[in-house]
Amino acid sequence: MNIVITGSIAYDYLMHFPGDFMDHVKPDRIQKLSLSFLVDDMVKQRGGCAPNIAYTLALLGERPLVMGTAGEDFPEYGAWLESHGIDISAVKVVPDVFTASFFATSDEAQNQIASFYTGAMAYARELSFYDLSQPVDLTVVSPNDPEAMDKYPRECRELGIPYLYDPSQQVVRASGDMLRAGMQGAHILIVNDYEYELLKDRTGMNDDDIRQVVKQAVIVTHGAEGAVIWSANDTGSTGRDWEEIHIPAATPGAILDPTGVGDAFRGGLLKGLALELPWAECGRLGSVAAIYVLETKGPQAHTFTVEEFTARYIANFGEDAATKALYNRSDLV
Ligand SMILES: Nc1ncnc2c1ncn2[C@@H]1O[C@H](COP(=O)(O)OP(=O)(O)OP(=O)(O)O)[C@@H](O)[C@H]1O
Ligand SMILES: [Mg+2]
Repeated sequence: MNIVITGSIAYDYLMHFPGDFMDHVKPDRIQKLSLSFLVDDMVKQRGGCAPNIAYTLALLGERPLVMGTAGEDFPEYGAWLESHGIDISAVKVVPDVFTASFFATSDEAQNQIASFYTGAMAYARELSFYDLSQPVDLTVVSPNDPEAMDKYPRECRELGIPYLYDPSQQVVRASGDMLRAGMQGAHILIVNDYEYELLKDRTGMNDDDIRQVVKQAVIVTHGAEGAVIWSANDTGSTGRDWEEIHIPAATPGAILDPTGVGDAFRGGLLKGLALELPWAECGRLGSVAAIYVLETKGPQAHTFTVEEFTARYIANFGEDAATKALYNRSDLV
């Protein structure tokens, strides 16, 4: 299956301050703030929704195409993605700007001061599905430059490309109109529980209204509680009804860092779609993929073979259509 994943491409610079920010904030001086913290630890992580989702999907044996914009500091990131089986031919490198970057400093009390630099991501609106030469079976519209997130669903509808609409953290800043337009005609909608409530507030739509405009499935993730999938069943002349499927979370070992857990869930889910599995199995694949990210630091620090993944799946959910499909793959041997 040719899967195109659009979304942010970013670096995360995470720093640690061995003290308490509040000890350095003078209440009588806050009119003119100038603070500098000497940090003792910094990590630079590869992130961004599109590569995060693509990374897990590629570990599962697919070859997704990432469509997005990055800056002049992208070559080493691109090489890493390519070496993991991700097609980066639709990543446009914008000269003279940096890749979108998240800078965050945390202190001993878990306070955080952060900035997100949009950088090359602001150019994502210039990319177009009309310029893609390869056939597309399914697209993911994940958080990105707001204008790009408005444009891609529109183009997908015009071109008849099925898309999974994943506004996630961008729900916070998107307008009701934009969210309504994105959901209208989407094959699949996926958000977490908090974002789902916000989505309903922003659009003034209720559960039924949302299911009216989404074609195949509405998926809401609930952290450690798992996820719920509402899947549409065609009932012929009476239209369609919705089946509610509960997807349990898988059991992680030590939880090190939740960053990217949602993206990994999407990667697993997409593998299920690529294998044309029933929704329950697609969701379980998402649950198993997610725990790998919880157990490692960063959204692309996990690794597994398809055999290891399948064993983990069986340990959590037993044998089913998903394990059968994973075992049947020629890339297993
Ligand atoms: N503590 C946990 N234990 C087991 N599985 C988890 C846990 N937290 C998340 N998951 C899995 O990951 C999925 C997505 O989690 P969640 O709903 O927290 O996404 P999110 O809020 O979008 O995450 P992100 O912080 O990456 O944006 C869940 O449906 C579940 O399968
Ligand atoms: Mg999320």
